[in-house]
Amino acid sequence: MKTQIYKIDRNRIDMDIIEQAGEILKNGGLVAFPTETVYGLGANALDERAAEKTYAAKGRPSDNPLIVHIARLEELDGIAADIPIAAKTLADNFWPGPLTMIFRKSEKVPYKTTGGLDTVAVRMPEDEIARELILAGGGYISAPSANASGRPSPTAAKHVETDLDGKIDMILDGGSVDIGVESTILDMTVVPPMILRPGAVTREMLELVLPEVAVDETLLTDDSACPPKAPGMKYRHYAPKAELIIVEGRPGEAVKAIRQIAYEQRRLGYQIGIIATSETIDLYTTGIIKNIGPRENEKAVARSLYKILREFDEEDVQYIYSEAFPQSGIGTALMNRLGKAAGHHIIRAEDITCLQKYRQIVFVSNSDNCRAPIAAALMRKQPLLQEYRIVSRGIVVLFPEPLNPRAEELMKRHNIAWDGYETIAFPEGLSGEDTLVLTMQESQKSKIQSDFPEFTDVCTLPEYVGGGEEIPSVYGQTEEQYEHMYELLLSYVTRVAQRLNEEAKNPNQL
Ligand code: TXA
Ligand code: MG
Repeated sequence: MKTQIYKIDRNRIDMDIIEQAGEILKNGGLVAFPTETVYGLGANALDERAAEKTYAAKGRPSDNPLIVHIARLEELDGIAADIPIAAKTLADNFWPGPLTMIFRKSEKVPYKTTGGLDTVAVRMPEDEIARELILAGGGYISAPSANASGRPSPTAAKHVETDLDGKIDMILDGGSVDIGVESTILDMTVVPPMILRPGAVTREMLELVLPEVAVDETLLTDDSACPPKAPGMKYRHYAPKAELIIVEGRPGEAVKAIRQIAYEQRRLGYQIGIIATSETIDLYTTGIIKNIGPRENEKAVARSLYKILREFDEEDVQYIYSEAFPQSGIGTALMNRLGKAAGHHIIRAEDITCLQKYRQIVFVSNSDNCRAPIAAALMRKQPLLQEYRIVSRGIVVLFPEPLNPRAEELMKRHNIAWDGYETIAFPEGLSGEDTLVLTMQESQKSKIQSDFPEFTDVCTLPEYVGGGEEIPSVYGQTEEQYEHMYELLLSYVTRVAQRLNEEAKNPNQL
């Protein structure tokens, strides 16, 4: 089948195309269309064969009921029975909008549409294209999300095209959706009404107009022993190709934890992805990093979720780590979908970060133009089990200077590249937290201890590795003495790396 794709301008809807799409629906065909939540795969809700086609196109199990979309409140009575008064209040407040209500179904609705249930889910979307299409198609349009079963819901027409091209009659391309997660589902057949799927209409919003609202507790777990009440929620809907893991904790702590895991995974040879936010994206260095939007704007984050997950399926990564988001407003729905995609694999940032004692290693000499930068350069070449920021500083640096020329020759002889190096005074750009300071001699150590007590972990290099001679300045001395200094530094730095690696393997002994 050839799928026709039409762009539609929401502000100037081309009614000829809508009429054409309506005809397809009336004749039992399938038309994908935008709603404010996600794209839906429309079919005539009162036509059994159309429901069968819908399941076939999506590759979806037919016991998973469809939502019937209407554009006018009068239409509700035609398909639902025993409509409680509260439903009227909810419709007044939230329709049209991202709320689906479940009622007892009327005779008119075929069991194929409701997946064999005696209840029917009804929603009145707000999107103008959706509303015109529903009217043109006869008033009752069933529409599951327009993705292939097992893929994230589509938030743009091109996602629909990727999943369903050639399997459906038409796609109406109305651009990217506004909300990005599916509607809230509220079961109106029980008292109090129960949320079966969280969405943009939150529990708090519902409680402003209803005396009481319950939540299907199975939403919060992945326990297959207690199946959720919305049949569709029981399928592990969508799992990314890579293993997705959510890292919970204060944002700063989560970033540290993700960095730490990313470093470790890369060392083990894995490709990893990171779901970062606008606020944290620059803090990551390893892996394929994608920005899900500003953390402070949970709506923007929700809007990007499925797109980002789809993008990661195109990448060659084995693990994806995501920051967690606050469960307020649409955050509940966002974390519900993210949690499902992760199979509820959540780890606590604190449990990871407490395993790494130092994140920063600072080598200190007098002028930072020879011994300390060489030590730092040698340290960066060590095989380290954990990621560290490795820098050098000088006790007496009045203004930035390049490396001392004799040191530069030395580095050249050992094939260590030096570009644009400049000396920096201690403790510029450093904090005492998570920091190990290693000095060349006792004199630099005592100076730091007396002047910068916030640096609590200060040792001379020999002291840190269990003994040996200090590393005095070789300024103005022979090439042999420079070479000797280099060998000495190399042997110390190698032992520093060994000690850090030992501690990384046995963090409990810290
Ligand atoms: O935002 C939305 O709701 C989107 C757009 C297209 O409107 N639609 C959507 O449909 O998400 P779908 O089919 O992907 O998800 C419908 C969910 C499923 O989890 C299904 O099990 C549940 O609604 N559902 C439908 N009818 C139900 C019923 N009678 N009782 C309980 N759950 C029902
Ligand atoms: Mg769906």
